[in-house]
Order: sequence, then C-alpha cells, then structure tokens
Amino acid sequence: MKLPDNARFSTICIHAGQEPDPSTGAIITPIFQTSTYVQDELGKHKGYEYARTQNPTRAALERNIAAIEGGRAACAFASGMASIGAVGTMLKAGDHVVVTDNTYGGTFRLFDKVLSKFGLSFSYVDTSRPELIAAAMRPETKLLFVETPTNPVLRLTDISRAAEIAHRHGARLLVDNTFASPCLQRPIEMGADLVVHSTTKYLNGHSDSVGGIVVAAREDDAGWLTFIQNAEGAILSPFDSWLVLRGTKTLALRMAQHNTNGMALAEFLKGHAAVTRVIYPGLPDHPQHELARRQMRGFGGMLSFDVGTFELARRVCNRVRLMALAESLGGVETLICHPASMTHASVPPDRRAAIGITDSLVRISTGVEDPADLIEDLKQALE
Ligand SMILES: Cc1ncc(COP(=O)(O)O)c(C=O)c1O
Repeated sequence: MKLPDNARFSTICIHAGQEPDPSTGAIITPIFQTSTYVQDELGKHKGYEYARTQNPTRAALERNIAAIEGGRAACAFASGMASIGAVGTMLKAGDHVVVTDNTYGGTFRLFDKVLSKFGLSFSYVDTSRPELIAAAMRPETKLLFVETPTNPVLRLTDISRAAEIAHRHGARLLVDNTFASPCLQRPIEMGADLVVHSTTKYLNGHSDSVGGIVVAAREDDAGWLTFIQNAEGAILSPFDSWLVLRGTKTLALRMAQHNTNGMALAEFLKGHAAVTRVIYPGLPDHPQHELARRQMRGFGGMLSFDVGTFELARRVCNRVRLMALAESLGGVETLICHPASMTHASVPPDRRAAIGITDSLVRISTGVEDPADLIEDLKQALE
C-alpha cells in the first residue's frame, strides 16, 4: 500500500501516516496501550522507550494530520486547550500576542487568567479587519493568534493577509482551524506557521473523544512542541489517538454533508418569519461571503440565527426533538445551543454585546442527518 505523491485530499485522509501492522497485517493501526517498551539491550531499542515520549498510535495520528494540513509535523495533546497551552510555551515573559477578539472563551480564559501571570500580554482585535491587526502589532509581538470562522458569529479573517502582516513584523501566524476543518481550509498553504485543532470536533467527528493537535510548518517549532509533549506530558492517549485516526478517514465525506446541511438550514431559516437574522458564510448577505468563497472549500456546518427575543430563543432550544441541546460541535449529530448562556456565559456581557452575541442568538452545529428531518424539527420548534 503506497500513497501516491499526488494523492488527493480524501485519499490522504484515509491513508497518510499509516501502514498495515508489520507483525499481523492489521490494516488499522492498533491501539498500543502500553506504558513502556522492552529494549533489546542497553542503548538498543526500536525507537520507543516510554509512552509519554513516544507511542505508535499517537505517532500515526500525528503523521496523518500533518499530511492532511500540509504541515511538517504535528503533536497531539490531551485536549484543544492543552494544545493551545503548549503553543503558549513557545513564548517568554515580555512577549506580546495579537488575538482575534471573538476567540473561543476557553482560549480567552487561558490567555487572560493563566498566561498573563507569566509576563505575556495580549491584545484582542477584530482580525477580520487587516488594518486593525497591523495597528496592534508591536516590536515585541511574537504571535498572531487567529480563529476563522469565529464562534458563534462566524466572522472570517483573511489568512493570507494575516500571514503577510505577522511575517512583516517578525511574528508567527497561528490559525485555530477547528471550525472549518482542513477539508474546507488549509491555513499553512496560505502562509500560517502553526495550526491548532480541538480534535474533539470535526477531526474526530463522533462526539466520543476530547483531544487537540498542533501542526507546525517549521522544523524548529515542531522540535519544540515534541519536547513539550514529553516535558509537560499533556499527551493524547493511545485510545483517543485511535478514535481520531478513525475519524479522519471519513472527514471529507462528513464535511460534504455538513456543508449541504449548513446551507439547507441557513436557507430555511432565512425564509422564516420568526427569524430576524441568519449568520452563515454561504449566504450572499454574509459580510465576508466573497472571502469565504476564496478562502474556504465549502461553507461548513456551523450557523447562528437570531429570533429577536430571549424567550423565543429559549423556546426553540427547549422544543427541538431531533436536535440535541448541548455544547460542542462538529459531530455527526446536530447540536443546538444558546451561546449567551452556554458556550459564551464566561464572556462578560459588554464583550458579548460588542461581538454581536445577543441573548436571542441560537447556534446550530449541523450533523450529517437528512436535512429534511432537521428542517422539520426546526419548523415545529419555531411554531
Ligand atoms: C475553536 C475552538 N478552539 C479550541 C477549543 C478547545 O478545545 P477542547 O474543548 O478540546 O479543549 C474549542 C472548544 O470548543 C473551540 O471551539
């Protein structure tokens, strides 16, 4: 089994980083559930010494996702937050980071409550406006941390322009690619130095694993992150690595249906009298629809809509039958949530208002069910 050099995306997803197990021929990389490895003699081993440092299942996943994102190497961590924490160790006291203002709440909490204690400083800007990124850069800025599209208002940042600004100032560009997935957006091709994922979402895709990964375009960054996996130890377990490796095999198939369902629900909601606003990058009235067409290969499965009052938002969330009221996203089953009281409750109300997270906003992570069933469910919930 040999992956051709010119293999296309879905082929890479299925095969990259994996060989049939040499001892049995098992086509699926086994779960190497071991803490240590027996050495042949003193100083002679098979490349594996201790499972915090190296694990074959994790290594297969890391090779697979590095290939999927077009990076040099990838390092898997115990959660998306652990992977962002690992990126934090690339910085030192006195360094400054420019961050998308509407970044995931857990990222904001890590920066604001933890990393700022170690002498790092952060500026939160609307990175959809390149002139605001440029104005926020300082001589000590070492990292531009961009999330695109953002959660839950789906604002986009032009990755190529962000890379150009970061590099002009001697900083790295990192893109949190969790919302789009590499199927729809490959930031390293557009100049990003680092990509992070909560693998909990689309990469695993089945709502049964928590994990994270950092993909590095540069050899020195990959070396440091590998060192940090061992030094800090927040690594992804063999079983979770195996689950995510299973998930990436169907990434392209799942994303195609997420795209279809996202567009179907956005169009249905757009025509509904009770809905005052629909936010979906695939709709021509999305403020960055043109950028989405240019930068993404599909508009994804995430959408948000406003129903005018908190009371109606509450009713919709409580009345859906097929959709599940839950946090998280990117799984095969459709989830609905109320960002102001759920995913973004930790964001202060004035910041929520500035970003556009009203109390009447509802977010949907469309799964891969038949879209007609999802539309019928929403229709009865909105009645
Ligand atoms: C965009 C984004 N980044 C990072 C994270 C954190 O990932 P995890 O929950 O796996 O720690 C999340 C979680 O929701 C997220 O949505």
